[in-house]
Amino acid sequence: TYEKLWLVASMVLIVGFIATVTYGSVGLGITMIGDDESTIAPDDIGDDDQFGEPRVEQVGEDEYEAYVIAQTWTFQPDPIEVPAGSKVTFYVTSPDVVHGFAVPGTNINAMVIPGETAQLSVEFDEPGEYGIICNEYCGAGHHDMEGELIVQ
Ligand code: CUA
Repeated sequence: TYEKLWLVASMVLIVGFIATVTYGSVGLGITMIGDDESTIAPDDIGDDDQFGEPRVEQVGEDEYEAYVIAQTWTFQPDPIEVPAGSKVTFYVTSPDVVHGFAVPGTNINAMVIPGETAQLSVEFDEPGEYGIICNEYCGAGHHDMEGELIVQ
């Protein structure tokens, strides 16, 4: 019947969409991974093992983890410094409102939702300096909410 055809057609569309998104991220060298386990209550961020001290931490040869807090209207740490030739997994959370974590000129672009951790892994081949901007409206200081990412 037409109803069944419709159902199949929408399934194909959905699978196609997922495949496109997956291919898009992989093809551009940036992997986005969902992460339910590091959900954190905004009130607990200061005491949290990961976010109590925003930082970049070396976790392996050429592998780093960056714990970043986006908060009206700064990013911490600032600047974020990582070595060239490294793979960095960013964990970004917010204790207050929705912020963005975006690095123009790269694919880094995540929505940072209070109580959740945005996770994204990026490989940095070349040294460079980048601006970090918030691209979600977050109040009076939104347009001044900037940070710096230095690849050395
Ligand atoms: Cu933070 Cu806009």
